[in-house]
Amino acid sequence: MLVSARSFAEYRAMFALTERDLEQRILDCPAGAASFVAEAGLLGIDAVAVDRQYAEHREELGVLVERETAFKRELLVKETAGYVWSWYTDADDMIRRWTANARAFGADIAARPERYVAGSLPGLPFADDSFDLALCSHLLFSYGNRLGGEFQRAGLLELARVARREVRVFPLVVYDTGARYEGLGALRADLAELGVPSRVERVAYEFQPGADEMLVLSTAGYRAPARTAPGAAGAARATDPVRWRHREAGA
Ligand SMILES: C[S@@+](CC[C@H](N)C(=O)[O-])C[C@H]1O[C@@H](n2cnc3c(N)ncnc32)[C@H](O)[C@@H]1O
Repeated sequence: MLVSARSFAEYRAMFALTERDLEQRILDCPAGAASFVAEAGLLGIDAVAVDRQYAEHREELGVLVERETAFKRELLVKETAGYVWSWYTDADDMIRRWTANARAFGADIAARPERYVAGSLPGLPFADDSFDLALCSHLLFSYGNRLGGEFQRAGLLELARVARREVRVFPLVVYDTGARYEGLGALRADLAELGVPSRVERVAYEFQPGADEMLVLSTAGYRAPARTAPGAAGAARATDPVRWRHREAGA
């Protein structure tokens, strides 16, 4: 899994965020080296980032992402060949922008470390209803074929526990196959039975072809079962597949 570094503008588009949405307390999970929280902070928006990488890598995560993205340039060029080049002009433009975003992330995590919390789905270190809105970009369905349905169900319920109004997830397409995650219907039915109805909405953002929809969970009616200890909802079972290949290659 590549740790990525998307921008505030991309988050606005991917999650169809309105001015009203941005007045809420927002969780970015997983945030990676995205600059959403950094840029939100400059605008006076109350946002917090969480990622499992922050346990091991904090200030240096931006630099690692910058190096890794450059190291994987050829792979990125190949993988994104048939993508929709309306957001970025080409792969080099994407790498340039991710680099700038990763630097903004690095500066903000150093300046406002309390805004960046180490945590792993499906067991986040926050009390129930800590946020109004949780945003989940490029994890649950993007890597849906590797994570498995039980992880997604538990992850979404955990986000529903900590976000008292909504959880938004983008995209609904599996990264490797380019197809919409096939278990989505069953997962939504299951969540609805547990008091978390959802809808699928088209958004004005498309990079991977067909990835222009988000899932919106309405969480206001959800009451999570009592937990024994923070984070006890279960540590993520899948091991984090991030490998810093530029380091392994001695680059
Ligand atoms: C592709 S990046 C997306 C980053 C950011 N949302 C963006 O769009 O640029 C996926 C991130 O998920 C994080 N991650 C993977 N498994 C996780 C888990 N179980 N809990 C929290 N974060 C996780 C990785 O560390 C990585 O930073």
